[in-house]
Amino acid sequence: MSKSTLSEMIADAVKGIRKYTDLVPEIAMVLGSGLGSLADQVENPVEIPYKDIPGFPVSTVHGHVGSLVLGALEGHTVAILKGRIHYYEGRKMEEVIFPVRVLHALGAGTLVVTNAAGGIRDDLQVGDLMLITDHINFMGTNPLIGPNDDQIGPRFPPMSKAYTPKLQELARSLARELKMPLAEGVYVAMSGPSYETPAEIRMLKSFGADVVGMSTVPETIAAVHCGMQVVGISCVTNILHAGPSCDTHEDVLLAAAAAKPRFINLVRGIVREFQSV
Ligand code: HPA
Repeated sequence: MSKSTLSEMIADAVKGIRKYTDLVPEIAMVLGSGLGSLADQVENPVEIPYKDIPGFPVSTVHGHVGSLVLGALEGHTVAILKGRIHYYEGRKMEEVIFPVRVLHALGAGTLVVTNAAGGIRDDLQVGDLMLITDHINFMGTNPLIGPNDDQIGPRFPPMSKAYTPKLQELARSLARELKMPLAEGVYVAMSGPSYETPAEIRMLKSFGADVVGMSTVPETIAAVHCGMQVVGISCVTNILHAGPSCDTHEDVLLAAAAAKPRFINLVRGIVREFQSV
């Protein structure tokens, strides 16, 4: 990163985005593997490739298109990160979380995070959607390591309610209304990119993790740090309770694509019912 301060870099990115639109998003979203098509449903969309936003890191992973889409969805203004940067791509954590900080600076007070994940808990099946009630950061690092910018958030942000209880309740009641099964559980983040060994799966299970993935936790930590509310949904794309998955990244994308209509229904519902608090 250059010598300019983090606040200056965020301001530069905001300025870059403001050349395209004045829209102030109420809700920011990060869409995971294979789930990006929700961004195509945005009304009056303004789509900006990451490469055209100052300071935005560009993803290299197949299935992760990189653009920011701003517009309206279910009567609310939204900013959607279509594709995310993963730590395993070799990027710095501060780059991984930069887009979330920029969306907060654009005005978003709430972050919806979504991901594809491997199901560890015995009852989880491929295609299940799971409300994230808590997380375990097992990435071996923390995105807030380094000097703290007090303008952005506190040095030691609490994570006791990282996934906003009110928004969890909203997602639950909405799923009941839609008669859509919605599992709940703990998401553990590993750095990846290798999938888990049998011993790692046993360890993660004994730690109390229900699903495992390679994202989401950095973005959630960054969002909580700057005072945003967070709601997270995982799509179980492969199961690990019988041992490591032989599934490939392509299988993961296919499973995510199959769950997409339900997933989109749920996320649209959350946005529709959303009332800022
Ligand atoms: N492990 C880690 N990350 C994942 C998996 C998995 O099994 N499935 C989807 N993302």
